[in-house]
Amino acid sequence: MYAQMVQSEATQDDPEKLAAFQARIDAGEKIEPKDWMPEGYRKTLIRQIGQHAHSEIVGQLPEGNWITRAPTLERKAILLAKVQDEAGHGLYLYCAAETMGVSRDELTEMLLDGRMKYSSIFNYPTLNWADIGAVGWLVDGAAIMNQVPLQRTSFGPYSRAMIRICKEESFHARQGFDAIRKMAEGTSAQKKMAQDAVNRLWFPALMMFGPSDKDSVHSAQSMAWKIKINTNDELRQKFVDQTVPQIEFLGLDLPDPTIKWNEERGHYDYSDPDWSEFFEVIKGNGPCNVDRLAARNKAWDDGAWVRDGLLAHSRKKAARQHAAE
Ligand code: 3HC
Repeated sequence: MYAQMVQSEATQDDPEKLAAFQARIDAGEKIEPKDWMPEGYRKTLIRQIGQHAHSEIVGQLPEGNWITRAPTLERKAILLAKVQDEAGHGLYLYCAAETMGVSRDELTEMLLDGRMKYSSIFNYPTLNWADIGAVGWLVDGAAIMNQVPLQRTSFGPYSRAMIRICKEESFHARQGFDAIRKMAEGTSAQKKMAQDAVNRLWFPALMMFGPSDKDSVHSAQSMAWKIKINTNDELRQKFVDQTVPQIEFLGLDLPDPTIKWNEERGHYDYSDPDWSEFFEVIKGNGPCNVDRLAARNKAWDDGAWVRDGLLAHSRKKAARQHAAE
């Protein structure tokens, strides 16, 4: 259905319609699902929102893994709530994508057979409890940096989903910072774990913002359509500027020895992540890609009987209604 829709709409991109569409974007109007839109705009949104939704769902795996091993009842309840929130974020985002004419099942199938991506960060393992604090603080912190501007994105349903999501993400980042602070202020073994978590997750967190601007394929068009509000490097720099003082506040060493305040630029200088590693991870060759997709495939297969049952029920109901008319 998605492929058919894409094909039938390719004919719609006439120059007059495109110019009127761009004028609406430039005037700051929101585009709603039933409005005319260029095929490329629809495709980009399905790609970005779908990838974002999948990231929320796959992102439950590395943290969910620690729910039964949280160190206290309070930490367990907080982590449980956070992981549950991520499922909700996935659902808001799948709903926003569905308004573009693609079903949740189609999106899921594209994730499961590798046609769609999810955030690179979730292909790294969470090895111990300090990693859970670092994920909340750094990963959700990076997600917020990217997602706050997306509240102003031009597509109405995506923008509204982002407003709800950002409220919860800020609780997620705070609980992570609180957990890592406890570790950083703890015994020397705990502090060492906190440092190790920051060292391992720093560069993968920087990768979340996408490749450097010179290698970003979609940024120019996505920014012209206000699907994206900032470039990847702009957001990465903002994240570094916000996070370095937090690392110092925790009394931890900086995970990148090249980080240095640059008075002239008014920003921290820092080193880029290893981009060859990033491209390998998004190609499917990261440390946990196989496990993550295997877990999602298993969940999908295990849930087949529920979907079949629901479909059979709704088909029966429709047939009964039809017979009564
Ligand atoms: N992980 C995986 N793939 C990535 C990536 C990342 N961190 N960054 C970029 N890519 C992919 C792109 O999808 C694109 O591949 P494609 O053409 O096959 O789709 C390619 O790399 C080139 O990158 P571009 O910069 O051209 O791509 P975009 O313009 O789409 O920018 C983005 C990438 C900044 C991630 C943008 O898509 C975006 O802002 N997305 C919305 C936010 C999002 O998806 N966040 C997920 C974070 S995790 C999360 O929110 C969960 C929470 O609980 C922490």
